[in-house]
Amino acid sequence: MASFSIIGCMDSISVAPKIAELGTVSNAMRLERGRAVYITSCSRCHNAVRITRFTQSKWDGILPEMIEKSKLNSSDSVAVTAYIRKVLNASTTTAQPSKSE
Ligand code: HEC
Repeated sequence: MASFSIIGCMDSISVAPKIAELGTVSNAMRLERGRAVYITSCSRCHNAVRITRFTQSKWDGILPEMIEKSKLNSSDSVAVTAYIRKVLNASTTTAQPSKSE
């Protein structure tokens, strides 16, 4: 029964983890901005994709195209790129990306 709430919690974290969940960060303001952009701008056409669903190299292919689609200004583009990179780096030490979805 206790596991029910834990699973629910991990689900919401894994889509777009909060900055506080990423360990020590040096640019928290920019990452917060990047997360806000991710949650708002990147869920206009489809649901926000769970970030750890793709590897960094996959994101390197997908993200520039999606930033273009989102018509982000350059500082928001930098912020969302930094946020995704940080989530992926943090996830390699805390959890493995799930292979099934
Ligand atoms: C204007 C609409 C639009 C916006 C805004 C948008 N996307 Fe997309 N996204 C799409 C479409 C359409 C596809 C599928 C076709 C494609 O890959 O071009 C897609 C596909 C994706 C995929 C691949 C999903 C898969 O299963 O292969 C990812 C990841 C993604 N988007 C992330 C983002 C991120 C991150 C942002 C914000 C920077 C974003 N999207 C903003 C329209 C959008």
